[in-house]
Amino acid sequence: MTAAAQVRDSDSETEHVHQLPALPYADDALEPVISAATLALHHGKHQKAYVEQVNRLTKGTEFAQLPLDKLVIRVANDPEHTELFNNAAQAWNHTFYWHSLSAERGVRCPEPLAAHLKSAFGGVAEFQDQFAKAAIAQFGSGWAWLVLDGGKLRILTTGNAHNPLPSGAKPLLTVDVWEHAYYLDYQNRRPEYARAVIETLLNWRFASNNLQLHLK
Ligand code: FE2
Repeated sequence: MTAAAQVRDSDSETEHVHQLPALPYADDALEPVISAATLALHHGKHQKAYVEQVNRLTKGTEFAQLPLDKLVIRVANDPEHTELFNNAAQAWNHTFYWHSLSAERGVRCPEPLAAHLKSAFGGVAEFQDQFAKAAIAQFGSGWAWLVLDGGKLRILTTGNAHNPLPSGAKPLLTVDVWEHAYYLDYQNRRPEYARAVIETLLNWRFASNNLQLHLK
């Protein structure tokens, strides 16, 4: 299965029912950086609610047969479908976030991703520092992203549910900076959460697979 396919549910000829995807690791696999309690709540309550809302809002509509990524792009920037966009984007973003993290520690950033990070940011460590600064600086709820945009790597942040898909930029990694992602473990200390996640949990293989997919 490709990296992109992991976060996309399949097209269906009949009405589409979106499923809450299983986490790619156990609830306690990211401890001590992210506790089992946070992960269970974040996945089992927050993301589950977004998925259920998407099913409620699409049932019997023209949107019912769209997979999640196509649905997000279709209703982005449409003021008539703000609630659907918010829930669909949040359902997609969270699955991408779970895969952006890894329970396997000490994996080196593979080529050619490392070379691209060096070219864009000066190196892997420099990217991590700039990525953390962007995540910390995002005002209010949102997301920090590493994207491939016009053949180059860029860091960007989005507010609330927004993501890069409607712009055409290709996400490689994301970090959730909504308070629900860290409040149980870090209270209001977003910098501690962002730096710990970015320095120890980023899933380089996932980012690398996404890069290779989008460079083709
Ligand atoms: Fe979240």
